[in-house]
Amino acid sequence: MKFFLDTANVEEIRELAELGLVDGITTNPSLLAKEPAPDREILEQICAIVPGPVSGEVVSTDAAGMVREGRELAKIAPNIVVKCPLIAEGLKAVRTLKEDGIRVNVTLCFSVPQAIFAAKAGAYIVSPFVGRLDDIGTDGMSLIRDIRQVYQNYDFETQILVASIRGPLHVIEAARIGADIATIPGKVYKALLKHPLTDIGLERFLEDHRKAQKVGAAV
Ligand code: G3P
Repeated sequence: MKFFLDTANVEEIRELAELGLVDGITTNPSLLAKEPAPDREILEQICAIVPGPVSGEVVSTDAAGMVREGRELAKIAPNIVVKCPLIAEGLKAVRTLKEDGIRVNVTLCFSVPQAIFAAKAGAYIVSPFVGRLDDIGTDGMSLIRDIRQVYQNYDFETQILVASIRGPLHVIEAARIGADIATIPGKVYKALLKHPLTDIGLERFLEDHRKAQKVGAAV
């Protein structure tokens, strides 16, 4: 399973990428709007830090505009993946960009039929938003389960990227289902690595080692 970071904050990306376990990045217009630097500059910096796929989103709502923007975004770096919204015009843009050899992440997916359309259009990635479905009282993860099943039924190659993750349980469930990618906010990414029993256990081991004070115990 691939772990992407869902952020446009370069410092946060730099810090977490040091671990060597960040497989890619997703940004969107809202995340980029939080950062002071121009969007293109931010995406350039991110692409230089993380060698994996880096999603940058178009803001046009017509296919021609999306294709134009997508082509510009793709010039930033070879690891750019263009994000297009899951609307009819977005699906048209997927086809054209794919013909250009540009990978597309189809975003804002909230239903199984939408996910099928994205796969049929040739999306490299589809991004169902689990947290936003949970927010309106529906079960976001059941959408991931259904898409996994349907994609398996028809051997669709589009990767399922679980987006709008709110906490570690979303990631655990996504892994159980067999989603290809989880895109994770920095805070949740850090929480995934931590366990209080690991910290307590380590403290105890070190304390016991200190107390024993054996010569040559540390190797
Ligand atoms: O990258 C898209 C997605 O992860 C957005 O999440 O928290 O705004 O619903 P959120």
